Amino acid sequence: MKVLIETYGCQMNTADSELIMGILNADGFEAAHSLDEADVIILNTCAVREKAEARILGRLTNLVPFKKLKPGLMIGVVGCMAKHLGESLIEKVRYVDFVAGPDQYRNLPAIIKNKRKKAEVHVEFDRSELYTGCTPTRPKGVTAWVSIQRGCNYVCTYCIVPHVRGVERNVPAIDILDEVRRLVSQGFSVITLLGQTVNSYQDGDINFAKLLRMVAQIEGVEQVRFTSPHPLGFSDELIDVIATEPHVAKFVHLPLQSASNDQLKAMRRVYTFEGYLEIVRKLREKCPEIAISTDIIVGFCGETEEDYLKTRQALIDNRYAFAFLFAYSERSLSIAARTMKDDIPNEVKQRRLAEIIDIQQKISKEVYESFVGKRVEVIVEGYSRRDAENAVGNTRDFKTTIFPKGDAEPGDWVEVEIESATSQTLVGHCTRILKKGRAPVIEAQLDVGISLGPTEN
Ligand code: 5AD
Ligand code: SF4
Repeated sequence: MKVLIETYGCQMNTADSELIMGILNADGFEAAHSLDEADVIILNTCAVREKAEARILGRLTNLVPFKKLKPGLMIGVVGCMAKHLGESLIEKVRYVDFVAGPDQYRNLPAIIKNKRKKAEVHVEFDRSELYTGCTPTRPKGVTAWVSIQRGCNYVCTYCIVPHVRGVERNVPAIDILDEVRRLVSQGFSVITLLGQTVNSYQDGDINFAKLLRMVAQIEGVEQVRFTSPHPLGFSDELIDVIATEPHVAKFVHLPLQSASNDQLKAMRRVYTFEGYLEIVRKLREKCPEIAISTDIIVGFCGETEEDYLKTRQALIDNRYAFAFLFAYSERSLSIAARTMKDDIPNEVKQRRLAEIIDIQQKISKEVYESFVGKRVEVIVEGYSRRDAENAVGNTRDFKTTIFPKGDAEPGDWVEVEIESATSQTLVGHCTRILKKGRAPVIEAQLDVGISLGPTEN
């Protein structure tokens, strides 16, 4: 049987799709490279905002014709929205064959093989599930995701994640280090460590800062990135590792959410704006080349114009390289949905959102344009999807850079002189190759049966 997985949502879900495909491959399932080829289509879903769920429900409707054309075709919904909607998803979309939450992926081969008339729903939490012993199927290449943590122990009032992904569990450090060594032996050299609040990682004496240093020091690892940390517990030790370890990316995604302390309190973010600024100050002091990005929510319950203006000013003052900006979307199960009033009119939310998008767009463009004329070090990660003559990579501070590939190969460190920039990309030409990599074969996600749904965040 051939399986196609379509991924929605965050990087954690991208990594989970590789995990699911690995579990299915180990059981004899093969990758489908297109919808037509698939016997099983799995949507790995997101629930973080209503828009994400609406988009996935729309996608499910679009899949009806495939089901009519191919009577045996199975359609499954897994991931965060599967856990969120559970049984009610089957009522909403009658032709869905199975629904599986984030802790139920080991059961997928059996669920698919024992196909029943009635849809199966498996959304129970398993507080101990870490998928130990499961090997994700990753597209061959330079970059690899490594999940080091599942679930989340924070209680941000707006957020559905703890309610769909369960409590925090950390993968033992020894397993993480083994996996990274194995990845290096397969040709991967850029590792992104993933966790919902990655810096709360703890395994015995090994905290996140120590783990990050250990991963960065593994022979053959050229670049380590991580996402997403929480400002609480963003320690001096971690700042020191980022500043001093040459193979750790000089880049931090540090979600602010709001610059108003009243809003931060209502959100139960457990830090103040001043505390957050102190982390940014230290990061920039200890590591002047650092790039910082953020997440912002406008229009959360009770947000006054004054609260909003503080956030807007913070965006201007902090000069983030980029930012993911959202209007608050009430999620059932969340604390806010149960105890607070979603009282900001949609027009106000959308106006605030449009304003900050406009402001950030200009800042990002200025930040990226400040590199024009400069030479930067770039690790080559693959080729441009639009034009295979162009190589694509990232700078040490995680700026995507495009240039005519010339002699550069995947895995190489090269020097690129920047000629132009958009608000998201640097464009230039390669001036020299700094260090040869091992030029692994580059596969597209679809080669392993995973395709990307529209990205949400
Ligand atoms: N509404 C809008 N944005 C949200 N996020 C999380 N929950 C919500 C919500 N209910 C945003 C936060 C988080 C990012 C992943 O998504 O900014 O950091
Ligand atoms: Fe990722 Fe959260 Fe969306 Fe789940 S709900 S896919 S954890 S962003």
